[in-house]
Amino acid sequence: MPSSPSRDLAALPKAHLHLHMEGAMRPATLTELAQRAGVVAPPVGTSSSFAEFLLLYAAASALIRTPDDLRRLVREVVEDAAADGAVWVEPHFYPTRYAQVLGPTLSSEQAVLELAIEEATRTADRLGIGCGIMVSALRHDTPDDAVRLARLAARYAGSGVVSFGLAADESKFPPEPFAPAFTVARDAGLISAPHAGELAGPASVYGALDALGAKRICHGVRAVEDPALVERLANDGVVLDVCPTSNLLLRVVPSLDEHPLAQLLDAGVRCTLNGDDPLLFGPGVLGEYELARDKLGLTDEQLAGLARTSIEASGAPPALVTTALADMDAWLTP
Ligand code: ADE
Ligand code: ZN
Repeated sequence: MPSSPSRDLAALPKAHLHLHMEGAMRPATLTELAQRAGVVAPPVGTSSSFAEFLLLYAAASALIRTPDDLRRLVREVVEDAAADGAVWVEPHFYPTRYAQVLGPTLSSEQAVLELAIEEATRTADRLGIGCGIMVSALRHDTPDDAVRLARLAARYAGSGVVSFGLAADESKFPPEPFAPAFTVARDAGLISAPHAGELAGPASVYGALDALGAKRICHGVRAVEDPALVERLANDGVVLDVCPTSNLLLRVVPSLDEHPLAQLLDAGVRCTLNGDDPLLFGPGVLGEYELARDKLGLTDEQLAGLARTSIEASGAPPALVTTALADMDAWLTP
């Protein structure tokens, strides 16, 4: 079926699974928070390397200074996903960033996580969508820090947290030492969804599968360098939460023409489309669907397939999944 510009991609029910809470801050909010702090807003669109990207990310995050700032961030992230047609959103959240800096009422990771869950759930309920938090450890913290976060996430499994992730510089910190944290998370029923196959190649993806039991992989696109790995992903139904614009701007791919999304789909790998860090890269989830149609040449069937996978692989409750899949079929065959 050819792509039809008349089908409204905003009306395609989808899940937004791969977005980092601070990386999805509204640009206007960044400006306002910087003005209030009396500092120049970090030039978030300009990173020339992943290390610089992480510094800009940290600078934007440091502008969140009060519990109300954090509530606003969470609320706006959920609102923006809903405006893009997401019926389920799974923001990645690292509570450690805020424990101790938001004042006495939020001095623990647990209190910070509870605030995020409460605000996300309240906002999602108001908008008639669903939301589950992915607690995400950082690779430059210690594996013991990750275990502590996994234990915290496990306590909220089924009550606000649905998945467990691992972010930051994969080229310097391989997955294997984080195996104990992911065992804790998986044992609690959380979806294992680490970053891999972005800043490092197939070895990192093998590690995510073998050591971390990944069911979803954030990015994963560099699996394409190893045909046996692609076959394994396809056979095992492992899902790649792909972010084309992020891959372009962080130079994971040299150009969008060379992005492997279509190749992975043709090989039978289940994929979803995501914004990663819209504050730093531009498009939100809707923008990525538009880009996939306009620049990657995906058909409406393929776009609906990506949306279908995003819902099926998410932490959404069964009733939401059933409704979203039915609405998706209606979108494709009105
Ligand atoms: N944190 C935020 N964005 C990220 C990315 N693209 N890769 C790894 N860690 C991240
Ligand atoms: Zn990411």
